[in-house]
Amino acid sequence: MKTKAIFCFYALIFFSCTEKTTNEEQEMTIQDPHSYAIPEESKVTHLDWAASVNFQNKVINATAVLHLENSKDAAKVMLDTKGLNITSVKSNGEDMDYSLGDYDKHLGRSLEVAITPDTKTITVNYTTSKAAEALQWLDPVQTADGNGPFLFTQSQAILARSWVPIQDSPGIRFTYNATVKVPQGMMALMSAENPQKVSADGQYSFKMEEPIPAYLLALSVGYVEFVSLGERSGVYAEPSVLDKAAYEFGDLEKMITAAEDLYGPYKWGRYDIIVLPPSFPFGGMENPRLTFATPTILAGDRSLTSLVAHELAHSWSGNLVTNATWNDFWLNEGFTVYFEHRIMESLYGRDYSEMLASLAAQDLQDEIAEMIADDNAKDTHLKLELEGRNPDDGVTSIAYDKGYFFLRYLEEKVGREKWDAFVKQYFTENAFKVMTTEAFIEYLETNLIDKERINIGTVKINEWIYQPGLPDDAVIPESDRFEKVDKEMNRFVQGTPAEELESEEWSSHEWLHFVRAIPDTMKIAELKELDDQFGFTKTGNSEVLAAWLVQSVKHEYESAYGRLETFLINTGRRKFLSPIYGELVKTEAGTKMAREVYEKARPNYHFVATNTIDEMLK
Ligand code: BES
Ligand code: ZN
Repeated sequence: MKTKAIFCFYALIFFSCTEKTTNEEQEMTIQDPHSYAIPEESKVTHLDWAASVNFQNKVINATAVLHLENSKDAAKVMLDTKGLNITSVKSNGEDMDYSLGDYDKHLGRSLEVAITPDTKTITVNYTTSKAAEALQWLDPVQTADGNGPFLFTQSQAILARSWVPIQDSPGIRFTYNATVKVPQGMMALMSAENPQKVSADGQYSFKMEEPIPAYLLALSVGYVEFVSLGERSGVYAEPSVLDKAAYEFGDLEKMITAAEDLYGPYKWGRYDIIVLPPSFPFGGMENPRLTFATPTILAGDRSLTSLVAHELAHSWSGNLVTNATWNDFWLNEGFTVYFEHRIMESLYGRDYSEMLASLAAQDLQDEIAEMIADDNAKDTHLKLELEGRNPDDGVTSIAYDKGYFFLRYLEEKVGREKWDAFVKQYFTENAFKVMTTEAFIEYLETNLIDKERINIGTVKINEWIYQPGLPDDAVIPESDRFEKVDKEMNRFVQGTPAEELESEEWSSHEWLHFVRAIPDTMKIAELKELDDQFGFTKTGNSEVLAAWLVQSVKHEYESAYGRLETFLINTGRRKFLSPIYGELVKTEAGTKMAREVYEKARPNYHFVATNTIDEMLK
């Protein structure tokens, strides 16, 4: 069955159109290959969600009332679902005709409901399946405090449909209200206006008054508490983690102010963060008003908080101006990495942010080399072709770091002042709208290139977006601070003892660079010397540890294997798991070890992590 969502959005700029429109603004048809929705026929504009969270059976029982906006001859509304057990679909109390389409392993099943143009709402009663991919149900032992179970969701990219029947396309926005019933004593939180105290009866209500796409729907239920960090920000975490988290995010208010000074007002009211248990598969997720974060960023010295700057930046890039489809994912992530680095630069200075840029450059060059070697050159284009594939395939450093370097290149072409004015205008004029790569190019040409009379011949827009690798005039930064690190590594390799290396002032980024710079030819005795001197195997910094474990596997430094095993069992952050398992599977002995550890670790991982690691170990 071939299905695609086709939807229209209003572009301020002029495109050729497949549909005639009377609107003054031109309409453009965009196809989202990852949704069954047909929003130009009937579009969800608001969701009323009433749910009860059942930890015993690990299911959510819910009623979703979907408010529709219909075309004048609408006959059906198309929704996305995955694994939902639907018990009824009604409108005004009457049963509606509905049917579920064939199952697709990425897309799930369409839910087609017959309507008339006058149908204002439909009400779907359903239960999630035990295997719902967005949901991770944790046993008490998988939490920090072990006080009770925990549930969190991860909807991006196309997993919202596994817990809500919805039009699960980033180009379709709706507001929502929710009431959620949870066991007494637990706190429920959503990507919405949130409570700060545990409710006496386990009942919570939520509202999100700004329209959001489905991938930003989020729910977390656990024994967490809140602490305020400032006027409009705070942090939720399990009690034993709360103080550490509050310390780590001490600069959050400053970050929000810095972000606003750069690119305009924060539009979402509050900005809170919840620190989840360690199986959370990402570093962070930009759920509006409530970023979800991994505890692996709690390094104790605020050294990994660029991740907070990143998720905060998504409040503009992604949450306000949203990629139209997952093929345009670089618009979300590339802009966010760019904005993240600018926030870090304004808080901690250029030489600090240049370390981040330099780490990004390393990641990017490695990834490009690997993809080209694997014959996946097309996946190094900024504009992706993910139809028929899992949109997760697009989560690579191309969207993030090539996207970042493209925007940085544009900044350098036109100068920071003009560039910043342009970016601010871009966020302001496109707020709560969707953006395709093509519409972005048009917007860029109109509002920056033409306006500033820049010779387009020297700006290789198409090469960046539609060609593999990096254009030859890409600027790849060199960090002075990293040059010093390289010098020290060289001295060590030449025979200077580890204890004589000059590393007193190093931040965790310098340490990360140092560990990454360990040459393949280094001997085990030398690794041991470094470890004895600098304590890598026992470091509390997860980024440094993950890089060190990769080196340990590569060099068969067995002293680190104990820590490697506990780390893999306790941490579910995919960004760390993939390189470590990836290094293990390069040898036969490593593969054996990977399989053994994975057997113990797998029950602790979220679907998005097992989906990746299953593939590596099969
Ligand atoms: N939105 C992403 C996470 C994501 C992307 C989830 C695609 C599912 C599909 C989030 O903002 C992100 O980029 N997280 C990074 C943070 C890092 C780049 C600072 C992560 O989790 O490592
Ligand atoms: Zn991101």
